[in-house]
Amino acid sequence: MKSLIEEVLNKRWPGIKFTQVRFVFTVPAEWRPHTIGILQDCIHKAGFTETKHLNNNLEFTTEPEAAAIYAMGKLGEHRIQEGSSFMVVDCGGGTVDLTTRTLLPNNKLSEITERTGGLCGSTYIDREFARFLEKKLGFAAVDKFRRENYGQYQSLIHHFFCPRIKFEFIDEKDVFRNIDLDIERTCPALIEYINKEIRDAIEDDDWLIEIKYEDVLTMFEPVVEKILNLIRDQLASSKQRCSTMFLVGGFAESPYLVKKIRDTFVSVVPIITVPQNPITAKRKTSDGRIYKFSCIATRGREVTPDEPCSGTYYPIYPDQTSILFDVYVTSRKNARFCDEEGMRKIGDLEIDIPDIEGGTDRPVEFSLMFGELLITATARNMKNHKIYSAKFDYVKNSSYFEATEI
Ligand SMILES: Nc1ncnc2c1ncn2[C@@H]1O[C@H](COP(=O)(O)OP(=O)(O)OP(=O)(O)O)[C@@H](O)[C@H]1O
Ligand SMILES: [Mg+2]
Repeated sequence: MKSLIEEVLNKRWPGIKFTQVRFVFTVPAEWRPHTIGILQDCIHKAGFTETKHLNNNLEFTTEPEAAAIYAMGKLGEHRIQEGSSFMVVDCGGGTVDLTTRTLLPNNKLSEITERTGGLCGSTYIDREFARFLEKKLGFAAVDKFRRENYGQYQSLIHHFFCPRIKFEFIDEKDVFRNIDLDIERTCPALIEYINKEIRDAIEDDDWLIEIKYEDVLTMFEPVVEKILNLIRDQLASSKQRCSTMFLVGGFAESPYLVKKIRDTFVSVVPIITVPQNPITAKRKTSDGRIYKFSCIATRGREVTPDEPCSGTYYPIYPDQTSILFDVYVTSRKNARFCDEEGMRKIGDLEIDIPDIEGGTDRPVEFSLMFGELLITATARNMKNHKIYSAKFDYVKNSSYFEATEI
């Protein structure tokens, strides 16, 4: 983190030293001074401050405070008038925190008039997904898998469930395509914990568990219902009418959640908005990582149809059993992130890396070959030399032909 900040400093404000920067850290509102003290210690150990004590270079504020300051900058945009109240709903991974404030004269904010929160953040949907698996495979099996193979469990959540199901889910049955969870491929360690009867049945289905629209709905509903109730209660206990609701935090990226909140409160709160944060929006993955763009072929470089452009990649988790390559094109020369303006996804290719020996040191060579009409993507597991291939279309958006194992 420190080196990243230094890099940004050098680039944007050359000449400013790290020691000249004042850092403001946000902490949950309910943290006691003792806990903040522990964080202060960590900040010092991470090299942010020269002394252990609180000094001019370090400040703490609470998350709702920071969210309110952020929202204030947006109030003008929405023409919120003095005397009106607004609510910030911070939808995070663990908690959802709601605060209501009033805009006072001279662009000042009132103290918090209402504050509530609940344990209904986005990770509770991950939990509902685990419960879905428990129902299919037995509670004991999933529980044991989670305890004994935590890395693979995390990979199942962060590389399968979140990107394939949770992030994109919308309340439209017609557009939902059933998704198969391939246990043998995605979480092979789970198999040995499943009891024989269930195991035989799943083996007959080629280790596939089909996930349907109704299943996902059942995962979202209890969590979202809790959030709707929190908002309902806070609106009811607020003396003033709430003119605007800001939905912030990672979970506010969920189209399903935002739609439910809008549909439920549209008649009570005139403006319900999800302000876009240009830095964190979409770039962060569910485990806090940032998807960076790795350039394989540069615009302008001439290649013959059989000349591959390639790079070597490694799994993130030691017991990861598959890697998903998303292929993007852009006309920009120095693109850094996959959600930048002008980026277009043209396809993806998933490959198996079932043998977890070697941990994160399991190189995979990924290459692209540019033919007349199609781009061929090839991934080679450099350990077992298995090759996977897919073809992408230049013209059509995101079309791809079968990924085949060779
Ligand atoms: N499109 C999406 N749909 C559902 N959940 C999402 C989406 N995008 C991100 N998330 C979830 O948002 C969470 C991260 O959000 P955020 O960074 O606000 O949490 P946090 O501040 O770390 O958590 P908390 O506030 O509870 O401490 C993750 O659980 C992630 O899975
Ligand atoms: Mg948060």
